[in-house]
Order: sequence, then structure tokens, then C-alpha cells
Amino acid sequence: MMTTSSLGSLVPFLLLTAFVMAAVSESRRSFQEIASQSGADASTGTQWAVLVAGSNGYYNYRHQADVCHAYQILKENGLKDENIIVFMYDDIAENEQNPTKGIIINKPNGSDVYHGVPKDYTGDETTAANLYAVLLGNKTALSGGSGKVLSSGPNDHVFFYYTDHGSPGLVAMPVGDYIYANDLMNVLKQMYKAKKYMNMVIYIEACEAGSMLQGLLPKEMGIFATTASNAKESSYGYYCPGDDDSSEYDTCLGDLYSIAWMEDSDAHDLGKETLQEQYLVVKKRTNLSHVMQYGNTVLSKAFLSTYMGQSSKKVSSVPLHELSSSNSLAVPQRDADLVFFQRQVQKAPKGSSESAEAQKRLDEQIARRSHADRSINQIVNQLFGDSSAASMLTDVRPEDQPVVDDWDCLKTFVRTYEQYCGRLTEYGMQYTRAMANMCNAGVDKNGMEAASIQACSGKA
Ligand SMILES: *[C@@H]1O[C@H](CO)[C@@H](O)[C@H](O)[C@H]1NC(C)=O
Ligand SMILES: *[C@@H]1O[C@H](CO)[C@@H](O)[C@H](O)[C@H]1NC(C)=O
Ligand SMILES: *[C@@H]1O[C@H](CO)[C@@H](O)[C@H](O)[C@H]1NC(C)=O
Repeated sequence: MMTTSSLGSLVPFLLLTAFVMAAVSESRRSFQEIASQSGADASTGTQWAVLVAGSNGYYNYRHQADVCHAYQILKENGLKDENIIVFMYDDIAENEQNPTKGIIINKPNGSDVYHGVPKDYTGDETTAANLYAVLLGNKTALSGGSGKVLSSGPNDHVFFYYTDHGSPGLVAMPVGDYIYANDLMNVLKQMYKAKKYMNMVIYIEACEAGSMLQGLLPKEMGIFATTASNAKESSYGYYCPGDDDSSEYDTCLGDLYSIAWMEDSDAHDLGKETLQEQYLVVKKRTNLSHVMQYGNTVLSKAFLSTYMGQSSKKVSSVPLHELSSSNSLAVPQRDADLVFFQRQVQKAPKGSSESAEAQKRLDEQIARRSHADRSINQIVNQLFGDSSAASMLTDVRPEDQPVVDDWDCLKTFVRTYEQYCGRLTEYGMQYTRAMANMCNAGVDKNGMEAASIQACSGKA
């Protein structure tokens, strides 16, 4: 027989159950509404992808390996080559340093990810201008390449994945000018106005990747984005050779955030996992930087298959922790080059000319770093005096604000610096933070030019 007191404790339980069930059906309903509103039903429209590796050089192996791997995922899940547009310099597979010619891998002992990758924009064609032309679907603005552009329309879904070096306010391309956050945003806005997509997903691996979107991406543009890092930290190369391992590759094979989303996509049925679920999995595995999300997060309730396709092959569900290889070394993007050059020195026979050559290349790399450190410090000191110079180098804006207000000022400062002090280089790119801060503090072009001449004239 039920006592009053036990009934008393049962009533709230029943109420709670009813409430939870109502909440579940509510959330299911609202998901379906969202899904139909946002066209998350992949049967309508075409799925397009633009994949970009922003670097070249064997010591940057990992970025092109990431992009090749991303292509294999999309291909495997049914996207067509005509809808996948690839930017990669393409100097890795046949590189003389590559121990497995014609093959690129994205993890130790991994399978080849290079086969079949469309060579749409390679070598000198891998420019920011060509990328903008591709995104805008403007063939006449292209210079070289396969001519493939996003010919997408209002029912289509677009996936844009970029991996390489970045810094506050910009990311690099293998050739020519950087991609500045405001230029990319203007292109996205034009795409939105021209109805070139129903919804779009952007994944960015780079240092300070959050600065590409922070305070810039309006919710109403139908874009959901995640980045490897926030606006003030490095992202990480992964599967890097450690001191005690015999890897013949001598270079990092992947990047932490990138392999986290790709190995997750490889292991799961993309029709059963949402973008938000993947974001959380990737955030957890990418434990050396803060994986961020931007734009319209409601869109992240859509399944991955909406953007990445879905294989008819049944994928077994492997728990993610079993995928991680615990011994792999992670290295900050900007130091991964040194790993390669140091290994070249270690491997060369002592006293050989090979060894001297390798040491020379390493020394040059280190000298370029000192030059960047020295010249920027001198410029900032000259403009601000010792007392406030430090804050120019380190000040970070709040997370809802772009890193700079006047983007033309930032571009001018980068060009002025490079004119007198030489190319920033992947290491020196970090100093775009100081340049952005100087713009925000009201330094003008003449001031920057005079300080750059003073710091670097005859020393570039
Ligand atoms: C790769 O394969 C080699 C040789 O088969 C093996 O010794 C090594 O442990 C493997 N490495 C990884 C990370 O699986
Ligand atoms: C395409 O690019 C060309 C060359 O830059 C430009 O003149 C033209 O206005 C662009 N077309 C559209 C539709 O934006
Ligand atoms: C990050 O995760 C890896 C793999 O699980 C682990 O070995 C490492 O210690 C973690 N690093 C930090 C800083 O938590």
C-alpha cells in the first residue's frame, strides 16, 4: 500500500517526467522546424566545398595533408568533384624530402590521402584574389587554375575549410597577399546578398583564428563557423616527430583541430551527428587552444551530412578517445618549422657538408625570428616610448570586438613594415597584433613609415 508520504515524493517525479517528455518533444519539433527553415534536409540543393591549404614548403607538410584528407571525407560521403574546389600549392607529394613519393598521409602510418584530389588552384594560382573569385563565383576575376568556381544558388549548402598560419586579423596564402578578416567578411556578405548559399559552414585552423570572425560575423547571414583557436593564441601542429621517434617524415603530419574534426567525421555516420556535437568533440580533443564557435549557432543543430554528405556505407561508431594516439607530439604552428630544421641537423652525419648546410638553414630561420623581434620592438619603442610599448605588443581586445577598427590602417602598416623590414614570415606574423593596436591607438602612416625606416633601413 502506498503511503501518503511516498505518493508525495512520486508526484513531483511524475510531473518532472511529463515536463521532460514535453521538453524533448518540444526540442524535437523545434529542431524539425529549424531543419526545414534552414534547409537542413540535404535532399534539396547541392553540397559545395572549398578547401584551402594556405602554406607551401615541406616543413608545412601538414596543411596540405589536412586539405587532402578533407577532400577524401567529402568524396567518400558523396560530394562530386565538380562541387569540391581545392586550393593547394601541391609541392608535397613529389617533394624530394617526402620519403613516400606520390603519397601524402595525415597521421603516422596513415593511408594515402593525396590520390584523386582535384588540382584546381596550385602553385602561383593559390592566391587570395583567386579564392575570392571562387567564392563569388566570378570566373572573369580568376587568374589561371581549373576555372571551377562556386556556381551555387539559394538552395545549396557550402562548406569552407581553411588550414594554415594566421595572426591577429589575417591568415596567409601560399602566394601573394594575406587574407584579411574584413576582406573575407566582405566576400561572405556579397555571397549572402547574391544568395549563393542557403547556409554555410566555415572551419578555420590557424593561430589566432578567432580574429577572423570575432565581432565581424552577423548571425543573420546563415553561417555557422568554428575555429581552432580564439583571437589571442596559437593553434597546434600535430603528429609531429618527437626526439625519440624514427619517423622518416621529419615534419608534423597534421594539425590538432583539423585531425580532430576529420578523424571524428571518418569514424561516424555523418547523418547521425550534428555540427554542435562535432564542435564539442573537437573542442575536447583540441586541449591546447580554445576551439570557438561563431555566427548562427542554431544552424549547428543540423547533421554533418547537410554539408559533408553521407556515405551509403555503414560507419561503425568508434568512441573518440580510442582514436587519439596519446604519444603524438603537438607543436605550436609557429614553431613547427624549427622541428623540421632541427631534425635535418640531427640527422646529418657530424662534420659533413650536409650537416653544415642544415645548420646554416636552421641558423637563418632563427636569425629571421630575431630580426622580426628586434625590428618590431624598435618600431613600437620609438612610437610609444619604453613605458607603454609593452602594452602595444600584448593588449588584447574583448571577445566581441574585432582586433582593429580601421582595416585599411592594418593593411598599410603590414605593407609598410614589409617594405622596409622584409616579409613578416610565419613567425613574424604574430606582430600584426602590435600593428592593429598601433592603428587603434591612432598612429598614422607617416609615423609607422618613419619608425620602420629607422628600425630597418639597410637591414631588411
Ligand atoms: C607504424 O608502423 C611501424 C612499423 O609497422 C610500427 O613500428 C609503429 O609502431 C607504427 N606507428 C604507429 C604510430 O602506429
Ligand atoms: C567579376 O570580376 C570582374 C573582374 O574583377 C569584375 O569586373 C566584375 O564586376 C565581377 N563581376 C561580378 C558579377 O561581380
Ligand atoms: C591533451 O590531451 C592529450 C591526449 O589526450 C594528453 O596526452 C595531454 O596531456 C593533454 N594536454 C593538456 C595540456 O591537457
